[in-house]
Amino acid sequence: MGTPAKVGLPVTLIVDGIDVTVPEGTSVMRAAAEAGIMVPKLCASDNMEAFGSCRLCVVEIEGRRGTPASCTTPVMEGMIVHTQSDKLRRMRKGVMELYISDHPLDCLTCAANGDCELQDMAGNVGLRDVRYKAPEGATLLNHFAPRDGVGVNAHYTPKDESNPYFTFDPAKCIVCSRCVRACEEVQGTFALTIEGRGFDSRVKAGAIGDDFLTSDCVSCGACVQACPTATLQEKSVIELGTPERSVITTCAYCGVGCSFKAE
Ligand code: FES
Repeated sequence: MGTPAKVGLPVTLIVDGIDVTVPEGTSVMRAAAEAGIMVPKLCASDNMEAFGSCRLCVVEIEGRRGTPASCTTPVMEGMIVHTQSDKLRRMRKGVMELYISDHPLDCLTCAANGDCELQDMAGNVGLRDVRYKAPEGATLLNHFAPRDGVGVNAHYTPKDESNPYFTFDPAKCIVCSRCVRACEEVQGTFALTIEGRGFDSRVKAGAIGDDFLTSDCVSCGACVQACPTATLQEKSVIELGTPERSVITTCAYCGVGCSFKAE
């Protein structure tokens, strides 16, 4: 959650009226969590470096201008942080409104329904309505896919189903980069990147012309685990079909001797 805590001198701050002491270098978001306060977030994750891209975790800090992202802001001695105010609620709602305006509204039939952080955060910030509509002929690469022949963007990137174990649906991607960071920081593979800028930015496997199968992806699934939406989804047994054969192997990585079934 935000920048992982580092061992350092203790720093005491106040978050929403609660005194909390954490090691120096800890993010404000993590300090808030230590005080039992969960700041809304999308791009931060417990096991990865903070990135600060979603802007949902903004807070107010007394004596400091602006509304910094709590996941990338380190604590300071005597800091007084507010995670809830009308201004912050408005900002978070506005951010979520923009995300949802560029996202398919097929929650009821989506594989991630009920297990989607985007859905959870929309509810968390009280989003009930979206004022923005996609412009006709928009060139947003991540924009609504023309599902069932209906859609506004002729330039959307089609679903990548090349990997045998999971699918990648760019129409549902919020470009939080959690998958890219998981690939780099958790797996050390560097198979994913973000190409383009602004509305045209999107997650890409490999180089130009690659899909997940032809990229350096090793199918570890770290990106699927990290994805907060249904962009990266494990293929179900139904989609995979019955295997023609299966093999039981014993992992020699450590001395435990776990057995795995490969199909
Ligand atoms: Fe901090 Fe996304 S969680 S900017």
